[in-house]
Amino acid sequence: MPQSYLLLGQTLAFAADPFHTPIDQAARHLTHGAVLIEGGKVVDHGPADRLRKKHPQAKIRDYGDKLITAGFVDAHVHFPQTAIIASWGKRLIDWLNTYTFPEETRFDDPDYALEIAERFFDLSRANGTTTAASFCTIHPNSVDAFFQTAAKRNQRVAAGKTCMDRNAPDGLRDSAQSAYDDSKALLEKWHEKGRATYAITPRFSPTSTPEQLEALGTLWGENPTCLMQTHLSEQQDEIEWVKSLFPDARDYLDTYERFNLIGERAVFGHAIHLTAREKSRLLEAGSALVHCPTSNTFIGSGLFDMGGLMAAGQRVGLATDIGGGSSFSMLRTMAAAYEIGQLNHTPIHPAQLYWLATIGSARALRLDDKIGNLAIGMEADMIVLDLASTPVIAQRANRATDFWEALFPTIMMGDDRAIDAVWIAGVEQSRS
Ligand code: GUN
Ligand code: ZN
Repeated sequence: MPQSYLLLGQTLAFAADPFHTPIDQAARHLTHGAVLIEGGKVVDHGPADRLRKKHPQAKIRDYGDKLITAGFVDAHVHFPQTAIIASWGKRLIDWLNTYTFPEETRFDDPDYALEIAERFFDLSRANGTTTAASFCTIHPNSVDAFFQTAAKRNQRVAAGKTCMDRNAPDGLRDSAQSAYDDSKALLEKWHEKGRATYAITPRFSPTSTPEQLEALGTLWGENPTCLMQTHLSEQQDEIEWVKSLFPDARDYLDTYERFNLIGERAVFGHAIHLTAREKSRLLEAGSALVHCPTSNTFIGSGLFDMGGLMAAGQRVGLATDIGGGSSFSMLRTMAAAYEIGQLNHTPIHPAQLYWLATIGSARALRLDDKIGNLAIGMEADMIVLDLASTPVIAQRANRATDFWEALFPTIMMGDDRAIDAVWIAGVEQSRS
């Protein structure tokens, strides 16, 4: 019999989507809960008393009144931008040219790619993120570095080679053919190996020729279980640029759609300034939209319409967008999503924020049958949150009259200090 562990603490799980089901029915919170882990999976959960009696052989990990939940899922991130997080800049294109592209050029060096991949996983795990979907650089070795590092840590991830064959500096361009060939070789090497998902990754339409987008659409058609990730409608000046580069396109989404780069495994980062046609096509296709709130305020991109898009039934995830995003913390990211919701006059409930950072993102990546919730059969990627991690949070949580009021100060003010423990595939991680 493999060793089983019984984790005791408060627990939070979701029985339904809290955007479409009343919160008290959608969320399951237990003040004295337990989660049984065996063989890397959640095999039981429920009230602590019942599970202790039912599973006397399990090794107990008692977290007191700390909160056990699924680990965070960061649905859109650029691991190669780890070292340039929080770089002062003006607008998206200027920020890309000044900081991002010169940094990404360095990833032709496999040792540097590995060093940053390690640093990325250390930082994201310290913040409670157990799965990330990352862009790499144009260099195949950056993809190897990311997947190798994830495999070593047994982390579930998605990633792909970022393809660009125009409007990028020397040393950071591929071609339509090499993007196809390299992406094909990489997906054959990594897709569905262990806990990895390959994502075919055109950076965004301005940096791909129609020929490259067509080649990647063909590759996706040949490998439909892969994800396809890219950027969509982040800033107004970017949208104008796309119009001038693709004069025949109906809108930004059409620059992907015409090359078959839309579908239920498509993951579009940002998606802020959408037209009615784009929204209806995205909904019909079952594609995912990923909200990157700290990035959207940091780069000044605009206000994602969470209320409207969720009410319409869109599939939405949440992400840090490192390094356009300004924090590795999905707690800080939830806080920024809340603030943007306030500016849109659509307050987002803490249950909805937490759902977005776990199940919402897992759904966006089509991984919600494996990760993102405390449920029987799920992979045991979990975190334990200290809801009193700093004096200011502790004194506010102390006054709470219900669970959501106790959790919300950690969402608004918490960071890596709130992450008390991280479990990945049923193994408790040592603090780094
Ligand atoms: N659009 C194209 N590339 C990027 C990127 O690296 N970051 C952000 N925020 N937007 C992009
Ligand atoms: Zn991005």
